Amino acid sequence: MPLSLANMRRQYTLDGLTEAQAPDNPLTLFERWMQQARDSESPPIEANSMHLATVDAAGRPHCRVLLLKGFDQDGFVFFGNYDSAKGLDLAANPWAAMTFFWPGLERQVRIEGPVHRLDRALSDAYFESRPLASRLGAWASPQSRALTDRAALEALLVQARQRFAEQPVPRPEHWGGYCLRPERLEFWQGRADRLHDRLDYRLHDAAWQRSRLAP
Ligand SMILES: Cc1cc2nc3c(=O)[nH]c(=O)nc-3n(C[C@H](O)[C@H](O)[C@H](O)COP(=O)(O)O)c2cc1C
Repeated sequence: MPLSLANMRRQYTLDGLTEAQAPDNPLTLFERWMQQARDSESPPIEANSMHLATVDAAGRPHCRVLLLKGFDQDGFVFFGNYDSAKGLDLAANPWAAMTFFWPGLERQVRIEGPVHRLDRALSDAYFESRPLASRLGAWASPQSRALTDRAALEALLVQARQRFAEQPVPRPEHWGGYCLRPERLEFWQGRADRLHDRLDYRLHDAAWQRSRLAP
């Protein structure tokens, strides 16, 4: 018997999103929603987890979950391996999209824009703040490459531990931050009977323009 999904649906009734509630600057609204997601999800979820979509040199999209590690007027920051599949995609095509879904709040945020590598000093500072095991993992794991088996990965970790047994673990050149500079943000609030609220902000001549989209 195949798993039946067709009848799974919820009514969304928690909240609405009116123009009057929405500030001129979408970053202000993102901050409000992120704070509410972080403080209210029960059981706690990783409110800063998001799906990042990139497009490779052949025009094919790829999507994976990452953690957002910061945001401000300059953009949205995440970290990873520059030689990974996503790193190669971003080198070929800097345009990316991220999506946050906070089910407990019946909210989604979509963000789109070009991505650039974070300033080296900021990547260094974040790397130094990570636990030792994560720092060693960045050296050990050739992210997105094929491994013969689990033992191969564990052997790479042993090598990294030995290499840095007597010295601090510096940030590898192939690991660091990215910053997505937003040109579009869309805020989606689920409403009853699928008449959801969607407020869309687009950057035009360095100013945010807002419009309501049909659900
Ligand atoms: C909750 C969660 C958080 C993750 N956070 C990160 C992250 O911050 N950076 C990262 O490189 N991968 C992260 N990953 C792993 C990615 O989803 C992905 O497997 C990895 O980045 C390799 O993707 P790629 O081969 O497309 O480059 C996370 C996965 C999950 C499920």
